[in-house]
Amino acid sequence: MANPESLLLTKKLEGKVAIVTGGASGIGEATASLFADHGARAVVIADIHDEKGQTVVESIGTERCSYVRCDVSDEEQVKAMVNWTVEKYGQLDIMFSNAGIVNLRGMAACIKHAARVMVEKHVRGTIVCTASVAATRGAMHRTDYAMSKHAVLGLVRSASRQLGEYGIRVNSVSPSAVVTPLTCEANQMTLKDVEKLYENSFVPLTSLKGIVLTVRHIAEAVLFLVSDNSAFVTGHDLVVDGGLNGLPHRN
Ligand SMILES: NC(=O)c1ccc[n+]([C@@H]2O[C@H](COP(=O)([O-])OP(=O)(O)OC[C@H]3O[C@@H](n4cnc5c(N)ncnc54)[C@H](O)[C@@H]3O)[C@@H](O)[C@H]2O)c1
Repeated sequence: MANPESLLLTKKLEGKVAIVTGGASGIGEATASLFADHGARAVVIADIHDEKGQTVVESIGTERCSYVRCDVSDEEQVKAMVNWTVEKYGQLDIMFSNAGIVNLRGMAACIKHAARVMVEKHVRGTIVCTASVAATRGAMHRTDYAMSKHAVLGLVRSASRQLGEYGIRVNSVSPSAVVTPLTCEANQMTLKDVEKLYENSFVPLTSLKGIVLTVRHIAEAVLFLVSDNSAFVTGHDLVVDGGLNGLPHRN
């Protein structure tokens, strides 16, 4: 029997090639780093923020990480970025479609072109889209955001059924509020102020005491969904909200 410590140290993505859209910042950045820590052969950061993207590449290492400028709202750019990845690294195993906020067209294009090359290369790949807790409940503000995140779940569920015959799994991850540049922009506050806001919130943000959601928690959930640990999981929305959905919804 394997000893539990060696299991903990097992690298889950040895030899895999991954694309992370929105990988220059926040959830995408944390996930790209975790993929690299878990032995991914290559991580491609697809983003529109060139400077931040290059910084992530340098922190992971240029031998295993590349930056490609790609506006995911433009399907031609997504197609070119996916083709570039396959030309450079030989295949694509993982697509993490996460760029925000580009909720539906961008995600559909990422699934479409990732699946295309996975099918061509006979790769039983995995695709994960970032949805949100806003994908499963109504919102008091930002109706367009909630609507488009609901649609992401419909897209993921349909794609999972259509791609199942090729062994390709498609899932989503749904975080609750986590401090990133996106939340700072949405609240028009600094990072420190958003942290304070979440820590002292009167509206419960979690039912778990003594722990605050971080981008690392979300990256770990994505790692589970793209690794063999979830080999029989597809069409699933993995909610990472500390039990928030069990509480009254006031936002
Ligand atoms: N932060 C939260 O509280 C939260 C909660 C639930 C869901 N989400 C979702 O998580 C995802 C990531 O958000 P984040 O909080 O890490 O934000 P972030 O701002 O830190 O990162 C988003 C990244 O996407 C990139 N991006 C934006 N438009 C793009 C485009 N057209 N093409 C390519 N890249 C583009 C940005 O340059 C940035 O690097 C989003 O889909 C967001 O809706 C965030």
